[in-house]
Amino acid sequence: DAGKGEYDHYMLKEINNQPTSLSNTIEGRIDDGDVALEELPAGTFEDVETVQFVACGTSYHAAMYGANLLRSAGISTEVVRASEYASMSGPVDEGTLVVAVTQSGETADTLEAVREATARGARSLAVTNVVGSTAAREADDAVYIRAGPEVGVAATKTFSSQAVTLALLTQRLAADVPDATPAADRETMLEELKDLPEHVEQVLETTDAETLARDTVDSKSYFFIGNGLGHSVALEGALKFKEITYEHAEGFAAGELKHGPLALVTDESPVFAVATGSGDGKTKTNAIEAQTRGAPIVAVSPDDHPLTDVAEVHLSIPDTHPVWAGLLANVQLQLVSYHAADLLERPIDKPRNLAKSVTVE
Ligand code: G6P
Repeated sequence: DAGKGEYDHYMLKEINNQPTSLSNTIEGRIDDGDVALEELPAGTFEDVETVQFVACGTSYHAAMYGANLLRSAGISTEVVRASEYASMSGPVDEGTLVVAVTQSGETADTLEAVREATARGARSLAVTNVVGSTAAREADDAVYIRAGPEVGVAATKTFSSQAVTLALLTQRLAADVPDATPAADRETMLEELKDLPEHVEQVLETTDAETLARDTVDSKSYFFIGNGLGHSVALEGALKFKEITYEHAEGFAAGELKHGPLALVTDESPVFAVATGSGDGKTKTNAIEAQTRGAPIVAVSPDDHPLTDVAEVHLSIPDTHPVWAGLLANVQLQLVSYHAADLLERPIDKPRNLAKSVTVE
């Protein structure tokens, strides 16, 4: 308990640690307007033709985030739930880079997927928090997210550090992979990344998440929607919420809401709409659809964003590059889940039936 310091739970401590953990993730990795990853020097990936991400749980959502960025860089990418790899992955050969995203580096499903991919000829890379973990040892290369130890079963700071590491990795791959197209605004994006720890601090200092949690804690269901990078954040927001509150929560691609889930929307199901500043038009349109069915809308967005026009409640995030905005929205959602679980008196750091690392398939 001493390790919790001033906080009631490790989860809250770890949420609040994000300015520091993100600074550690970034430190020394941006040099002269470019990405410097000492583990993966320039040229490491010049034989790569396609990238397959494998991961579980929160790490899967971070992998979705990374895959979105890789696709924007013109690199052919798929994201596969590690437990589905044997039956779901596309073709694999020597041009395939399989990227295992795993906080612990010990998740059995993820290790097994990497073993299968390498047996089929792929080259492998572990993106992990734990130095010397099985994933790091078995993969051809490893890059560390440097988030520091995470005790709460529900992953928080490691998601942020995974997403940032994958964004940096995207720049490395875009420079190496033939025919890839590094982001035209790379320098601006990396400049904004340097401000991310401070932006997270701003969210932590000004958040209205606790009030919102108090106002909505009697709801029947909680829905989370977003588009593109916001979609992965919506899924992560819902996973966090269900893991620690035990309430019904689901995340959707904003445009999918009307293809089924809308039947579940009522005035007792708040809809959290995540805006990143890119592709938010669909999120707004579909938030309006939900609002028409009586759902309270919570915009998680910058202050002057069009979503705030339709929302009853606004959780504000600082203005930044769209690549980082989703991570700020995610911090707001982590806090909503935390406060809701606290009001419901759940055992936040050790939710029932869950383990920090699942070492069986
Ligand atoms: C367990 C944890 C999740 C975690 C997942 C993947 O299910 O409860 O919080 O996201 O494993 O863990 P990994 O260590 O591979 O990131």
